[in-house]
This record gives sequence, C-alpha cells and structure tokens, in this order.
Amino acid sequence: MLIRGPPRFTLRPVPWAKARARRGTGLPIGRKQTDLRTVLRHAVESIETVHPGREIVVASEGDTTGLFDADRILQAFVNLIQNAYDAMGSEGGILRVGAAKVNLANRPGVEVRIEDTGPGIPAEYQQRIFEKFFRMPGTKGEGIGLGLYISREIVAAHGGEMGVESEPGKGSRFWFTLRVPPRA
Ligand SMILES: Nc1ncnc2c1ncn2[C@@H]1O[C@H](COP(=O)(O)OP(=O)(O)O)[C@@H](O)[C@H]1O
Ligand SMILES: [Mg+2]
Repeated sequence: MLIRGPPRFTLRPVPWAKARARRGTGLPIGRKQTDLRTVLRHAVESIETVHPGREIVVASEGDTTGLFDADRILQAFVNLIQNAYDAMGSEGGILRVGAAKVNLANRPGVEVRIEDTGPGIPAEYQQRIFEKFFRMPGTKGEGIGLGLYISREIVAAHGGEMGVESEPGKGSRFWFTLRVPPRA
C-alpha cells in the first residue's frame, strides 16, 4: 500500500531573503489605498475570537483612509490589542480603539489610539517596553517581548511615531501616527 506523507519541499533561499541579509535594515512597505477603520475592525474581530465576551469600544472620527501597508498595520493593531487584553486579564476592563485624521507638522496624517483600563506601565518602563525582547517583570500572558518593537518598526517605516502614556493603576494609552502621502 502506498501511504502518502506530507508534501516534501526542497529548501532553497528565496531571492528577497538574500537581499534582506545584505541590506540588513528597514522594513519594506507596500502601500495601497487603505481605510484604517477596516483594518482596525479586522484586528478587533481576530482578538475577539480569542477572548469572546470582553468589552471593546471602537471609535473612529474623520477620514482614516490613505496609502498604507494594510498587512503590516494589521499586525501592529493585533499586537497592541492583544497586549491590552493580556494586561487587563480575566478581570476584564474596557478597551477603546480609535483613529482620527490629524496634522503632522502641517502635513496630513492619521493618529491611532488604543486605550485600556489595565494596570498601566510605570514611567521607568514606558520607553524600555519598545526594546527587543523586553517584558516588564511579572507580565502575564505568553510572549517574548517583540510585539512592540516590531509594531514601532512598522510605524517608522510609514514615516510615523509610536509612544505610550500611562498612569499606573488606571490604564495605558498607546498611540501612533502615520503619514498620509498624496494619492499617486
Ligand atoms: N497595554 C499594556 N499594559 C501594560 N503593560 C503592557 C501593555 N502593553 C505592553 N506592556 C508591557 O510591555 C511588554 C512588551 O510588550 P510586547 O513587546 O508586545 O511583548 P510581549 O507581549 O511579548 O510581552 C509586555 O511584556 C508588558 O510588560
Ligand atoms: Mg505583545
């Protein structure tokens, strides 16, 4: 009897992997016309399947469309929303997610906020959490401390910035901005 196993693959380097190894820096971005609200909704829907029944308030104002890398922005949203859920734990809380059009040094941009009612982040860690592999002592939930680092790289590749404001005991507000380049 012939028993079929899983398909076999021959591993060989893909061309872009070689190129990346040579250059070593910078995340490639593929921009296409995107509405951030839709991407945000997709991220929330994904996380809701993991934590059904928790409350999420989603708010967006203004025009949140522009030329962005939707796949990478989705990854950043999922990272931030997953972190908020991890921080709030089983006691739950409220997660507010919003996007709005803003001016970035007189040029058009979008600002996104992800706010939770979790334990917050002490001031001494508010920069360090964006470092590779950094997790605050006592952090629950699975993870290796790369989510915020990668998310900030994705935002930087779009010409934007990411940061956090937090009052321990009250919650955290992560924010990021993206430049909206003129339509081609
Ligand atoms: N919303 C949040 N509330 C409290 N702490 C947070 C929040 N988001 C991130 N952190 C802290 O920042 C650390 C780094 O986050 P991240 O880079 O996503 O790594 P990971 O989720 O794998 O631990 C987390 O381990 C946690 O200590
Ligand atoms: Mg994370």
